[in-house]
Amino acid sequence: MIPIKDATGIARMREACAVAAYVLHELRKHVKPGVTTYDLDQVAKQLIASRGARSACFGYQIGDRRFPAHTCLSVNEEVVHGIGSLKRVLRDGDIISLDIVVEHQGYIGDNAFTVAVGQIDPRIQKLLTVSQEALVLGIAQARVGNRIGDISNAIQTHCEKNGFGVVRDLVGHGVGVEMHEEPQIPNFGRKGSGAKIRPGMTLAIEPMVNLGTHRTKCLSDGWTIVTTDNTPSAHFEHTVLTREEGPEILTVPPLG
Ligand code: MF3
Ligand code: CO
Repeated sequence: MIPIKDATGIARMREACAVAAYVLHELRKHVKPGVTTYDLDQVAKQLIASRGARSACFGYQIGDRRFPAHTCLSVNEEVVHGIGSLKRVLRDGDIISLDIVVEHQGYIGDNAFTVAVGQIDPRIQKLLTVSQEALVLGIAQARVGNRIGDISNAIQTHCEKNGFGVVRDLVGHGVGVEMHEEPQIPNFGRKGSGAKIRPGMTLAIEPMVNLGTHRTKCLSDGWTIVTTDNTPSAHFEHTVLTREEGPEILTVPPLG
């Protein structure tokens, strides 16, 4: 069953998502050459606390492992779930994906984007642009009466048309009281397939797109997902509310 949020749930989701968007927006300002991914995780930890929220990543359990950081910070060939480290110093020409998931008053907001560190290769810039466009095209399909596969297909089509690999091993998801709720939202698939979109769903739509092969593997830390060909990977994510009037992005960054 896909959870449908009532008016209270939607109001709480709005607040949680505003916090997630605020933290992401502020954290981006700290991305520069010389900074470590540990520093960024610590900045995010403080930003999250300053809004009376908590990281939904910290302690998140899969099997017998618990995620040890407050954010997911994934550099270059790292796709998602990178763990901040004092050893990972950002350099000019890197890209880094910042993924922020917070819990506030029992509800969860989830958003991410990939940013350049200094000057990046034009081909990598193209990867970021196309991946962000794919997110927008996917969100535009999150309309009442459409199906989840319409979102998936829009994302896949745009990325593959541009020659990029769409990650298959990880998917977007419903989000609300839990970080991962139904439905799964693959970034690949057929138009008209999957569950019907109804009003009041809150969906984390999140294309993960590689410069090269779509194939990924997990590092021995048990969390970090990387591309098998070591090419860079981009990740853009919003939490979206489905309304009769059309999709509404809940993780809107503050102005300024
Ligand atoms: N945005 C990621 C997701 O939707 C966050 C994972 S949190 C972690 O799966 F705890 F697994 F790191
Ligand atoms: Co997510």
